[in-house]
Amino acid sequence: MPSLHQRTLQTSLSDPYPLSPRYSSNSQRQISIFSRTGLVILFCLMLILGVFMPWTGMPQGIFSVTKPSVSKWRHYTLAEAVSFVAKNGTVIVCAVSHPYLPFLNNWLISIARQKHQDEVLVIAEDYATLYKVNEKWPGHAVLVPPAPDSQTAHKFGSQGFFNFTSRRPRHLLHILELGYNVMYNDVDMVWLGDPFPYLQGNHDVYFTDDMAAVKPLNHSHDLPPPGKKGRTYICSCMIFLRPTNGAKLVMKKWIKELQFQPWSKAKKSNDQPAFNWALNKTAGQVDLYLLPQAAFPTGGLYFKNHTWVEETKGKHVIIHNNYITGFEKKIKRFHDFGLWLADDHSQESPLGKLR
Ligand SMILES: *[C@@H]1O[C@H](CO)[C@@H](O)[C@H](O)[C@H]1NC(C)=O
Ligand SMILES: *[C@@H]1O[C@H](CO)[C@@H](O)[C@H](O)[C@H]1NC(C)=O
Ligand SMILES: *[C@@H]1O[C@H](CO)[C@@H](O)[C@H](O)[C@H]1NC(C)=O
Ligand SMILES: *[C@@H]1O[C@H](CO)[C@@H](O)[C@H](O)[C@H]1NC(C)=O
Ligand SMILES: *[C@@H]1O[C@H](CO)[C@@H](O)[C@H](O)[C@H]1NC(C)=O
Repeated sequence: MPSLHQRTLQTSLSDPYPLSPRYSSNSQRQISIFSRTGLVILFCLMLILGVFMPWTGMPQGIFSVTKPSVSKWRHYTLAEAVSFVAKNGTVIVCAVSHPYLPFLNNWLISIARQKHQDEVLVIAEDYATLYKVNEKWPGHAVLVPPAPDSQTAHKFGSQGFFNFTSRRPRHLLHILELGYNVMYNDVDMVWLGDPFPYLQGNHDVYFTDDMAAVKPLNHSHDLPPPGKKGRTYICSCMIFLRPTNGAKLVMKKWIKELQFQPWSKAKKSNDQPAFNWALNKTAGQVDLYLLPQAAFPTGGLYFKNHTWVEETKGKHVIIHNNYITGFEKKIKRFHDFGLWLADDHSQESPLGKLR
């Protein structure tokens, strides 16, 4: 199965980040173990370990530098992780690097309150995150190599950030190819309710509008008309996909669009425009569903328009802390709106206290 997925992916896309390089590199490594040099090295190792070690009285520490548990997570694959966490054929995924762990915790607490934490899989963007999450919550984090350069991956608008978000559609496509429903969330989100009852019908792709303009409560669930830049402003922050050909087509198109519009210093793009072009170009072939604004408002509406928040009280399901950049500013805004749970309620997180 995995090799089949890998083949279809790699022939259809020229893949700069192979989805599962581990499968191929593992088999090569196995072969090399049985080659002559491999056998010689193995023999020498056994000799050293078996003959010399007992006399040297070597401290245990030297050979437990990489704990077995740690190396185990290093080789944990996306396929294994998804099959471990999925409930009812569904996984909730996010992609996180180490500096964002407090946001991850905040998001997880809000999900735990809706009793959906068991189906959460954290796609770790660095090894520190992989080990930290799995140490506290075994099996709930996976790293799809290669790990992006952590120095450059965090700054919004940077090439590193673009590279990091470009991997998102690949991960989502892989999960769809494995046959699961998948919900993707950015971790600067908070759940106030259970989003699953809103995923009505059997559409391929569900998403939310990033436009702050107020819509009537009964607005259409179709893809909105294009805006000023000739495209829509659908948020790539919250997406639900069913494992259908339509949803896979959108992910493939998104990957292609990211390659057509690579990052440039002048544009400082993120992955959202490419997602919108992918929706635009596949709209005729795919069953798309726009989620209700009152339940899934953009931060530009929720944090800015108090009249609207009052008017739609009780209808909010997921709040996205966007339309603001900067780590501390985001935390302060969550604080100001009573949505920062990570300090006082950390015991509700499956990760416990992090800070
Ligand atoms: C499981 O999935 C099916 C089909 O998507 C759905 O109808 C059902 O409500 C789900 N059950 C639970 C317990 O979530
Ligand atoms: C981003 O990816 C491009 C193309 O793969 C690569 O040339 C570049 O060095 C990467 N930049 C950063 C900052 O990761
Ligand atoms: C929403 O409701 C208004 C007033 O009841 C109606 O005129 C309009 O056609 C409805 N829009 C949709 C998309 O159903
Ligand atoms: C796709 O974008 C083009 C260019 O802005 C626009 O004319 C067209 O209506 C869009 N199609 C859909 C389905 O939104
Ligand atoms: C704020 O919300 C109110 C109530 O929904 C709406 O009438 C008004 O146009 C909104 N203001 C802005 C600036 O969007």
